Order: sequence, then C-alpha cells, then structure tokens
Amino acid sequence: MALRNILKQGDETLTKRCRPVTDFNERLHILLDDMAETMTTANGVGLAAPQVGILRRAVVVLETNVPEGEPERVIELVNPEILESSGEQEGPEGCLSVPGDFGMVKRPDYVKVRAQDRDGNWFEAEGVGLTARAFCHELDHLDGHMFTELCDHILSDEELEAYYAAQREEED
Ligand code: NI
Repeated sequence: MALRNILKQGDETLTKRCRPVTDFNERLHILLDDMAETMTTANGVGLAAPQVGILRRAVVVLETNVPEGEPERVIELVNPEILESSGEQEGPEGCLSVPGDFGMVKRPDYVKVRAQDRDGNWFEAEGVGLTARAFCHELDHLDGHMFTELCDHILSDEELEAYYAAQREEED
C-alpha cells in the first residue's frame, strides 16, 4: 500500500463528474488499498477517488459506529448510489481537500446505499450519523461537488469551539 497525494480545493479535478468503474482488476484493488491508507493516515472518515486524482466512481468510508472494543471498518463503495435517506442532522463538516476548514452542513441522519465491491458484486450498506454524513459527502465528490457549496460560511475557531461546548453541555 502507498500514500497518495490528496488534491486540495481549487484543483479542477475536484469539480469533474467521475466515470463509472468498469474494470474490477488489480489496479482498482491497489487504488482502494491506497485510498484507505491515505484516509486513515490523514485521520479522515472518507475519501473519494477524485481526491487522489482518479476520475472514477469509487470511495472509501470509515465506519466508526462499531461496538466498543471492535476496530473501525473501511467500507469500499464502487459505483455507489443512494437508495434511501431519512431524518436530518446538522453539524460541522470538513474535507481532507479543505484541511482545517469546517462549515455547518445539513445531511440526512440515515442513508442506505447500493454499490459494487472491489470484485464487482452488488451489495447494500446502511449508515447512521457520521457514516450517513460521510456517504453523502463522498458521493457528492463523484459529481464534482464539495461541502463548501452547502454551507454559508467556513466556521471561525470561536464558532467551532462554541458549537462543541454546546454539544458537551447537551451531553451532560
Ligand atoms: Ni471531502
């Protein structure tokens, strides 16, 4: 596995619509392995192929909603599409292509996707909370869209701190 360079906002590649994956070969497997390593090394919860310069419909998402003591799991979605979504969540969202910036983005709280695995087999995956947010965010990348189009401004450090302080208060 190898780390790939993550393109930053402003790079034209990030505005392009990606083509479907048609070859489920070694090259795709290496890409998915590299994307997973690049995402986890950068402490992200999702990464889309265009972010590493590949205009194909493939993403990786880190499933963080796992039982206590179990490792987080990387979900690979090839040619994904959203089948169902419901509920609503609003919270700070960021992107490895816009490092350090967060904006308030509304997303559904539950998302069901259909996708192919690395060998071309179709399957369905469900996500709630952060995983649902990541599914939506990463699929947007495949159509050339960024979270910055969905928030009215990038949060200041003070706004971000105030948001997390309010969250902590709610939990107490
Ligand atoms: Ni992103």
